[in-house]
Amino acid sequence: MNILTPPMGWNSWNTFGNDISDELIRTTARAMKDRGYLDAGYRYIVIDDCWSLMERDGQGRLVPDPVKFPHGMKALSDYVHDLGFLFGMYSCAGVRTCAGYPSSFDHEFIDAKTFAEWGVDYLKYDFCNFPSSAEGKNRYATMSMALKASGRDILFAACNWGTDKPWQWMKSLGAHMYRSTGDIQDNFKSFSSIALSQLDNFCMSGQECFNDIDMLTVGMYGKGNVALGRACTDEEYQTQFALWCMLGAPLMLGGDVRAMNGFCEKLVLNRNLLRINQDSECRPPYVAYRGRVFYNGPDAENHWEEYPDGGLTLFRHLSGNEFAIGYFNLSPRPAEIPFTFADAGLPYGSGVALALTDAITGEELGVRRDYCNFRLEPHCSRVLLARMVQAP
Ligand code: GAL
Repeated sequence: MNILTPPMGWNSWNTFGNDISDELIRTTARAMKDRGYLDAGYRYIVIDDCWSLMERDGQGRLVPDPVKFPHGMKALSDYVHDLGFLFGMYSCAGVRTCAGYPSSFDHEFIDAKTFAEWGVDYLKYDFCNFPSSAEGKNRYATMSMALKASGRDILFAACNWGTDKPWQWMKSLGAHMYRSTGDIQDNFKSFSSIALSQLDNFCMSGQECFNDIDMLTVGMYGKGNVALGRACTDEEYQTQFALWCMLGAPLMLGGDVRAMNGFCEKLVLNRNLLRINQDSECRPPYVAYRGRVFYNGPDAENHWEEYPDGGLTLFRHLSGNEFAIGYFNLSPRPAEIPFTFADAGLPYGSGVALALTDAITGEELGVRRDYCNFRLEPHCSRVLLARMVQAP
């Protein structure tokens, strides 16, 4: 199978945790179809942890909880497939999942076969309760082979939270994406530090195997399973989504898509942001600016303060000679976020200028030939599309 652009879909964990059911998955799939998510590219519907009974059956097979999933998994996957989606499930490399359910350690081949029989197209594979005497890489290799032997194309979403630098080896084991960080929480500090922690590693992410910085929390507003700290604002959700798009990370929605508000729905369906995320060249962005920002302090005129890692400007080469520029004010005060074209290889003397468009609003911003800075409110972002033109 070929996974040529970052996988997109929805996962039950961030909002629903243990509170999952056949009904939830069906109504979510229905809503995603009706509201245009499938057309926009969100294809995988993934059930995370907590779907099974606490024990295997007499043949050693995992058993869906009959109260949560009264029609079984095959009927549910048929429903999801009939709507045009792909169907994802979850297991774990340890002896129990993170929530304490049976897990695939030493059951890799029988579990992969079971998932294939149920029509599973995507397996998220976690790392909790892993025996300390066992070897992590080998167990991811084992599940990868088990999936290949299962007789079905199943996307392997390895999730070891960045243990042992998976960006250096997970691709070589056949995985299609790998979680590189710990769990996201629905607050600004969590998602911004997750994104920053992987800036240097996205050069190892690309076609066939993508760096996964976790499911999005866009639209959760502090409700659900990973709510911790101050809930995000609309602007912070825009920053989160813009970071994931600029980085080319998988886009697995974690909010309740049946009840997403207008702002967040428009955001995650924004065609330009999705086009940047899904660009066929799969290039990582170049860090054009990362550093301090300044602002006036509270008292005297001459008193100013700096925020050391508050500004971030990402520049990304897209296919068709197009470029994307992402500006991020990660500081808690309004600040100017710079982009000097020479930092991306376009000095003033080149005679080449950039025609700029706001990727989110579609507004034309004119032609510039040397720099384009933006003053941004705290935790806000801006994303531009750029094309080369002759300098005026
Ligand atoms: C964590 C994982 C989360 C979620 C959870 C389920 O280890 O990182 O994304 O799957 O387990 O218990």
